Amino acid sequence: MTQRTLVLLKPDAVRRSLVGEIIGRIERKAGWEITALELRALDQDTLEQHYGEHKGKPFYEPLVEFMSSGPVVALVVEGERVIEGVRQLAGPTDPIAAAPGSIRGDFGTIVRENLIHASDSEESAERELKLFFPGRA
Ligand code: PPS
Repeated sequence: MTQRTLVLLKPDAVRRSLVGEIIGRIERKAGWEITALELRALDQDTLEQHYGEHKGKPFYEPLVEFMSSGPVVALVVEGERVIEGVRQLAGPTDPIAAAPGSIRGDFGTIVRENLIHASDSEESAERELKLFFPGRA
């Protein structure tokens, strides 16, 4: 099942020079391909649309503030079961609960600074790809 997903390497990953390490893990998966990649600052409008479903939750404001604190690397990754697969590589939201070997398990400690976002379903991927890479969706 070939899919496309949106991946964001969050400002902490960029600040800590973990971009190459994380992209390397994605690149090494058989049959997956990075088809778009861009370093960019996210504006408020984009963040409100991207995280709109979480508005009102206690973590919403800190999350948006953190995601505005520096540039992110936005990627489109295509391949076999890539939506579930990148989320497996990332590990669960809380890095302390994430197993060693996962990106968050290997490099994270703070929930807010959890290094990577990846679309969680085909519907989310479609919506997020349109938002971040409108020319390619
Ligand atoms: S939920 O309520 O179960 O849908 O939330 P969850 O999927 O775990 O997280 C949704 C996004 O919010 C981020 N998040 C947080 N950010 C900052 N602080 C705290 N405490 C926090 N808890 C969750 C989480 O990383 C998700 O963002 P993305 O970009 O998808 O990783």
